[in-house]
Amino acid sequence: MRAIAVSAFRAEPGLVELPKPEPAAGEVRVKIEYAALNPHDWQTADGAGGDPAQQVFPLVIGVDFAGRVDMIGSGDNPFRVGDPVLGRVTTTALGTGTYCEYASVPHDSLIVPAPRELPLRLAAALPSAGMAAAQILEAAAVRPGGRLLVIGAAGGVGSCLTQLATARDVRVLAAVRGDERTRMGALGAAVTIDTTAGTGSLEAAVREVCPDGVDALVDLVSTDPASFAPHAALVRTGGVALSTRGAAGPAAGPAGTRGPRCADFRLAPTAVLLATLAKATASGALSVPISIELPLEKAPQALAENRMGGARGKTLFVL
Ligand SMILES: NC(=O)c1ccc[n+]([C@@H]2O[C@H](COP(=O)([O-])OP(=O)(O)OC[C@H]3O[C@@H](n4cnc5c(N)ncnc54)[C@H](OP(=O)(O)O)[C@@H]3O)[C@@H](O)[C@H]2O)c1
Repeated sequence: MRAIAVSAFRAEPGLVELPKPEPAAGEVRVKIEYAALNPHDWQTADGAGGDPAQQVFPLVIGVDFAGRVDMIGSGDNPFRVGDPVLGRVTTTALGTGTYCEYASVPHDSLIVPAPRELPLRLAAALPSAGMAAAQILEAAAVRPGGRLLVIGAAGGVGSCLTQLATARDVRVLAAVRGDERTRMGALGAAVTIDTTAGTGSLEAAVREVCPDGVDALVDLVSTDPASFAPHAALVRTGGVALSTRGAAGPAAGPAGTRGPRCADFRLAPTAVLLATLAKATASGALSVPISIELPLEKAPQALAENRMGGARGKTLFVL
């Protein structure tokens, strides 16, 4: 089967030919129809969180998929051949990924039936971004009427988060590079801030709406405490400031300082949450914006582009 893989951490991703994985006992094999790009994919290929001694190479990139069950391993299994499914592969440490034609996964892992009304292309875009957005919203703990500042709001997580927060009557301040008022307004953002509008434009725009600070921050962009700290400073005392990129820790300041509670968010995906989000997407309550659909061969270029930022919704690979 065709796959996009790296031969070592930090190597260039490329197209390779690999054997079709046979489903072991308790597994299902999925014929993948769509895989979605997440920054996690190039971060994993760079070696983030991976132990080179444990890693099997070639490492097939990708975690999100949608497709149809094509073969069932031995033993009891709730799935049937032909079932449409979506999921998130959780065993990249073993060399399994989703930028490929087939993946074998345990039936009791993060794989759920795709509702009949949910097109598989939308299903593939949902797992990582949708689950992260839902869990970030819980962690941010903003009450209805409260204000949530999202830095990097036009990408996969930010687009879902803006909608889920708005549905709970949380007012979203969406910070994006460029004029994205139409896009973010359509997703429900109360205020859209162009962070390229000049030095201090973010702080000025936030203080105009919330002189005492927002109730919570979700920073999807900063990679170090020095970049995160000025964003966290826009949160009121007693609020919550979250980083999805491990930038929060020391920015919390010494114990006892006044200010927000800063934390690094970690996705804890569950099949129950994924099934709930799949239903919400099928019903139209949640929409996952697709920015582009590409053939698998274009994945290396798409990964390189995603590193530079500028995502406007999800990139999908068509298998
Ligand atoms: N910790 C966890 O469990 C967890 C879970 C999910 C996601 N994440 C992380 O959260 C981040 C956002 O995820 P996502 O899926 O929303 O990503 P995405 O779809 O690629 O969107 C990222 C957004 O950030 C903005 N951005 C601003 N400056 C950037 C820069 N220097 N480089 C890259 N992007 C920049 C981009 O828009 P502009 O260019 O317009 O600013 C883009 O829309 C990723 O790093 C991801 O790995 C972590």
